[in-house]
Amino acid sequence: MKVSVVHPQMEIEWNWNTALLIPVCENELPIECEQLTEDQEIIIQSMIDRDLFYGKDNEILFVPFPNASFAGALLVGLGLQDKITPEKIRRTSAQIISHAKANKISHLVCDWEQLSVDNMTPFIEGILLSQYTFDQYKNLDKKGDNKPTEINTITFIVSPNKDISALHNQCSQAVLICNAVTMARSLTCSPANELTPQSFADIARNICKDTQIKVRLLNKIEMEKEGLNCILSVGKGSKNEPLLLVLEYQPQPNPEKPLAIIGKGVTFDTGGICLKPREDMHEMRYDMSGAAVVLGTIYALNELKSDVSVVGIIPLVENMPGGSALLPGDIIKTYSGKTVEVLNTDAEGRLILADAISYAQKNYSPQKIVDIATLTGGCIIALGHFSAGLLSNDEELIQELTQAGERTGERLWTFPLWEDYDKLIQSDFADIANIGPRSEASTIIGAVFLKQFVENSTPWAHIDIAGTAWGVKHIPYWDSKYPTGFGVRLLTYWLLKHKQGKE
Ligand code: BES
Ligand code: MN
Ligand code: ZN
Repeated sequence: MKVSVVHPQMEIEWNWNTALLIPVCENELPIECEQLTEDQEIIIQSMIDRDLFYGKDNEILFVPFPNASFAGALLVGLGLQDKITPEKIRRTSAQIISHAKANKISHLVCDWEQLSVDNMTPFIEGILLSQYTFDQYKNLDKKGDNKPTEINTITFIVSPNKDISALHNQCSQAVLICNAVTMARSLTCSPANELTPQSFADIARNICKDTQIKVRLLNKIEMEKEGLNCILSVGKGSKNEPLLLVLEYQPQPNPEKPLAIIGKGVTFDTGGICLKPREDMHEMRYDMSGAAVVLGTIYALNELKSDVSVVGIIPLVENMPGGSALLPGDIIKTYSGKTVEVLNTDAEGRLILADAISYAQKNYSPQKIVDIATLTGGCIIALGHFSAGLLSNDEELIQELTQAGERTGERLWTFPLWEDYDKLIQSDFADIANIGPRSEASTIIGAVFLKQFVENSTPWAHIDIAGTAWGVKHIPYWDSKYPTGFGVRLLTYWLLKHKQGKE
């Protein structure tokens, strides 16, 4: 995606596949735009006079200009000016795609003089996120030119008093971060026969080659030496051995304590011996969404040359039944020393995350820890697909993450972690059990379990993305066919902001 920012008098390359995008607010007609000729204004006004366009929400009208050097004007309704939010811009720009495709538009020249420059990032996000496809396993028809038109160039025209080079940087950042989201989505969409713990690690190595990101990988033998028994136990049933992937991003010579981000990397979750029902089991290839988000976030930070120190911890396993699989009733001595009675092998995510949290604390003493995981089906019951669950031991961290989520449109909703819930994971034989009473507060219990592994003073948050890691048709910039990469923009923004906040 090529994005440029210009002042009104600067030269723009107009083409037959260029459309002039004019954002229009309700009650702010007639349309005025310096780029239009008088004749073009008359054509547009005639559309308005015929009640074809009002500037309301979700209204998009393409007006062709057969005699111009470009294709035409794309009128985009935004409703009332004071009701415009970044999320509305993101959703609206996603809806432009179908109009652009139908009219073979690949270059948008956007008249941005009346809109806040803060809305340029969500505009780019809406375009890029909604154009995502995953077709690498399809034999596409190479004969005809079947590839639909894509918007690949955006030019923003901003007021003469705006600093175009700063805005250009802002736009480039948006593109870089969206590229990281795309990478996370494709990893998540990859089938489990292709994406095993080992191939995830290989891909991560490849992505981090020639970057500031240091990759460390612990194999089964090394994990045995360390005593990472939860990760090992969950991985026991599979011939694809478990791994612990560690990504260190420490751009400064004298780094402060890093922030730790931890992602659940179950490359496939059959449920283990407590096997899942067969319906929709294929979806469980997305059980490494959290891992993909952590990789995507650290990749984005490196691309943005951020100076925040981050360590990414990614336990990678395949949860399989089999002759050597973990059994219900097994007791594991975790990396922390605490013992866990496994009452359900399908509650595997919390087991591998427990060791990952302990590993982060023991080896990196992080300032804060955020883990992200497709942890519980119960989170979908509670929140549906419009918000992820947030559980934390720290009020400030809740605020930071919630605000980051509002900013990026990746909304978080906080669940309580009252001590009463701790009683629900009591075990008769070990320090704790890995599940609570059936169908009771399962999202909370998942987090209560993880909390046992967080050393008291460390601010920690758990983000349950079971409901948001895959698209939903009601949000225009997601596609219900594809994963979302939910969390990459959120965590990247949080981490960038975190650093700024400390300066
Ligand atoms: N990966 C699943 C969570 C999940 C389930 C995500 C359905 C999306 C849709 C996780 O490993 C799991 O199986 N969780 C169990 C926990 C239960 C056994 C306490 C669940 O939510 O059913
Ligand atoms: Mn499971
Ligand atoms: Zn799982």
